[in-house]
Amino acid sequence: MTIAFEAIREDFGAVVTGADLRQELAPECFRQIYDGLIRHGLLIFRDQGLEPNQEIAFARRFNRIRIYIGNDKTKMKGHPEINLLGNATDENGEPIAFQNKVGIEWHTDGTGFSHPPVSTVLYCVAAPSKGGETLFASGKRAWDELPEDRKQQFAPLKVRYSYEGLFKKLTSASDASKTDLTEDERVRTPDVVHPLVRTHSVTGHKALWFTEAEMACVEGLTSDESQALGKEIVGHISKPDYVYAHAWKPGDLLIWDNRQMHHSTTPYTYESEVRLMHRISGEGDETPY
Ligand SMILES: [Fe+2]
Repeated sequence: MTIAFEAIREDFGAVVTGADLRQELAPECFRQIYDGLIRHGLLIFRDQGLEPNQEIAFARRFNRIRIYIGNDKTKMKGHPEINLLGNATDENGEPIAFQNKVGIEWHTDGTGFSHPPVSTVLYCVAAPSKGGETLFASGKRAWDELPEDRKQQFAPLKVRYSYEGLFKKLTSASDASKTDLTEDERVRTPDVVHPLVRTHSVTGHKALWFTEAEMACVEGLTSDESQALGKEIVGHISKPDYVYAHAWKPGDLLIWDNRQMHHSTTPYTYESEVRLMHRISGEGDETPY
């Protein structure tokens, strides 16, 4: 099996061929894929007919798997490592997946945790004919192309994130599982503070690294100042030139390096089309710096 990477753009993203993710990856194959993930930021594997335990085994090679706090209804039965996303329903028409019609907008995963994931895996089970894409943009490019005065302004900034705040926003906009965090879950998810500009622990590259929807404030700024700065950062991260839109096909598996990538989503015809994604998120072993 020869693994090859075909870049889809100059700044990030590659299609990987020669990898059958149903098999356990040999150490040298995993090393190639991990190196490719860091180099390209986003890897696309097509036509992978995977069982849940195969998805989980692949994701686990990159970091420990995070069992998400809350939303138990939208975790896969028997496989709580897998979060179901989309508008899929069971045989009684009850939603089984976490659907957020407004989208979380541009973000990077796990900013509300002390140890955010190295990577996130998304696997497509069902996709609408139009829309429901996942958008990607590189925080590294966004940093590299910032004007010098903004780099100096942003470099020392720290952002306070609230998982509970994000959870409330998402569940209030979702059709399924309108639940609050329990007291125990609240205690386990205190606010955290992370740098706005993250240094990649392997390459040393800097990247803008930000989730507007999870932000409580930028440390030292007022709420209004924080909101205004957040809008400016997201506007910069998501410039049309910076964005790749992935139109899903069943069997696609995507993994991204969460230390350098941002992502978002697009609407679709919720009433007449079905989208069902499996998401497996990780728990890294480093505090962003
Ligand atoms: Fe995400």
